[in-house]
Amino acid sequence: MSRFAYVNGRYLPMRNAMVHIEDRGYQFADGVYEVCEVRGGRLIDERRHLARLQRSLGELGIRLPMSLAALGIVLREVIAKNRIGYGIVYLQITRGVARRDHAFPPPEVPPSVVVTARSLNRARNEALAAKGIAVVSVPDNRWGRVDIKTIGLLPNVLARQAAIEQGAREAWFVEKDGTVTEGASTNAWIVTEAGTVVTRPPDHAILRGITRTVLFEAIKAQGLAIEERPFTLEEAYAAREAFVTAASQIVLPVVRIDGRTIGDGGPGPVATALRREFHRYVEMG
Ligand code: PDD
Repeated sequence: MSRFAYVNGRYLPMRNAMVHIEDRGYQFADGVYEVCEVRGGRLIDERRHLARLQRSLGELGIRLPMSLAALGIVLREVIAKNRIGYGIVYLQITRGVARRDHAFPPPEVPPSVVVTARSLNRARNEALAAKGIAVVSVPDNRWGRVDIKTIGLLPNVLARQAAIEQGAREAWFVEKDGTVTEGASTNAWIVTEAGTVVTRPPDHAILRGITRTVLFEAIKAQGLAIEERPFTLEEAYAAREAFVTAASQIVLPVVRIDGRTIGDGGPGPVATALRREFHRYVEMG
């Protein structure tokens, strides 16, 4: 089946979906993005994702190129045109096309908008969750505003590649003080020996994941204790469970960190239950 993308006002077959070489996203990574889950053909947590998008744009002084309602229509149209039942939709907005100059272009330059979507293999994702994933730690060498969801992801790309080359699926960034910030494209969590679920507070050192936000509801509903605080890598090695969250994979159990077995080496009951219950707490489009 041919794929379609939305590019600056037009729905185009993928092979014709192009942006200008002087797009500031291409030259400076001067843009932001969102990834939303699609399930049963429906957009999950659109309102929260678009609110975060608006915040990211605001932090960078990029104007919203159309209303959030109009963006929502484009997202849905791309999902429909690509007949996505289970998958993800990707939205990117950059500061637009202008002659290369570090300073912002004049305000009349319109931001560029691109939307793509793709199906994910549900059986493969479920098999991955049933087995759990391995994680490796890497120094957190990112800039100080990773709370903004920018397309500048080079440290994340290098971290993920380092993980893959060591036979793992995800990398966890670790600060100089030994605390874990987050994954290359996920938020990081542990469950302590006492059964408390721990994740880092949303300061400037992590992205405030939408999955993370929604999961708080699921955790409370399960009657589990939550602590929002930094945790160290050493604490993670000794944890009863560990897991990661993101829109593209919801809750994924972590069974190995830096080659050390976590808990009994299989997906833990907390992560498994949270993965099962998660969609009761989302907003379905
Ligand atoms: N990644 N932290 C980072 C660095 C991320 O890139 C992501 C999302 C998350 C989780 O956020 P959310 O729950 O809103 O998906 C945390 C997306 C899925 C990606 O880059 O593909």
